[in-house]
Amino acid sequence: MPILSIESSCDETACAVLENGRALLASVVASQMDIHARYGGVFPEVASRQHVLSIVPVVEQALAEAKISLQDVDAIAATRGPGLAGSLVVGLNAAKGLALGSGKPLIGVNHLEGHLYAAWLHPASEQNPPPPPQFPLMALLVSGGHTEIDLMTGHLTYQRLGATLDDAAGEAFDKVARMLGLPYPGGPLVEKAAESGDPRAFVFKRPKTDGRWDFSFSGLKTAVLYAVRDLEKAGKPIPVSDLAASFQATVVDALIAKTVDAAREHGVKEILLAGGVSANGPLRQAFLQLQNDGFTVHIPRLAYCTDNAAMIAAAGWFRHQAGERAALDVDVLPTWPLS
Ligand SMILES: Nc1ncnc2c1ncn2[C@@H]1O[C@H](COP(=O)(O)OP(=O)(O)OP(=O)(O)O)[C@@H](O)[C@H]1O
Ligand SMILES: [Mg+2]
Repeated sequence: MPILSIESSCDETACAVLENGRALLASVVASQMDIHARYGGVFPEVASRQHVLSIVPVVEQALAEAKISLQDVDAIAATRGPGLAGSLVVGLNAAKGLALGSGKPLIGVNHLEGHLYAAWLHPASEQNPPPPPQFPLMALLVSGGHTEIDLMTGHLTYQRLGATLDDAAGEAFDKVARMLGLPYPGGPLVEKAAESGDPRAFVFKRPKTDGRWDFSFSGLKTAVLYAVRDLEKAGKPIPVSDLAASFQATVVDALIAKTVDAAREHGVKEILLAGGVSANGPLRQAFLQLQNDGFTVHIPRLAYCTDNAAMIAAAGWFRHQAGERAALDVDVLPTWPLS
């Protein structure tokens, strides 16, 4: 039987219906991006109010698209954290209400775990889906708030080998976008600008960290800032495309190098890339190239990279299979590490 899932950790109100842990019957995402764009970032109070407005229509639309009723689902999964408390509360409480009203079990899911399980998803209409990831696997999670490398030796187990010491990769994309005069959310616009740029126009050093598999992006971000300032002081035009391409190439290089090193060190052949930044074309391409070096690479389809409820259903399905149930008084966990 299917699982119904809800995601509301940031500025997307989402609901999905999933079968067998992989086959997606419906995935509805109501984005608030246009509303927050005028503030240059997510405005938490506005986000939670928008979730309140969207949650019921989004759940109704997902059930309608999946052509099932609430009674047809096996369990209800919802994101408990990490994320904005006021946003999480709306989705989790909606899930509790649905679980109480229908008598179905409730499952609390970690949003970061959801990002990783997006790699298991495929549309239910697809006859021959790609094989699912196998264990052990090395997972690189690159999102707006997190950047970390996790070793998974089985379902739902994570050993964090390294993480960013400062900015997350997505956050660095967004901040660099702002420096280059690109509007929020900047990540996809940096990628777009970089398409016509020269990645060798500016030489940014690969960020150094003491921890072998840790990341750091704040120095790189500052290097871009100084390059822009120097050009402005000299009265020269800002080569936005070249700066975007050079910055992006440095990030991709750092992400690839550490993930491959961690995989080789642990004798792992399966690599998984996930999180909002995994929507980045050059990053996806660079990871897919690793297949030539004997790695099996898993990347979620584009639609499942940024926040959605389908990924929460996938993780929730495996937790449900493991016999996990949440009490109806569970609370949100705004800071909740994966491991
Ligand atoms: N094509 C792209 N290239 C680079 N970055 C991108 C691209 N698409 C999205 N991003 C970045 O991904 C981030 C959004 O990802 P996601 O929705 O997973 O973040 P989040 O949910 O806010 O954070 P977290 O998952 O850590 O809680 C943003 O920083 C955005 O700029
Ligand atoms: Mg996210």
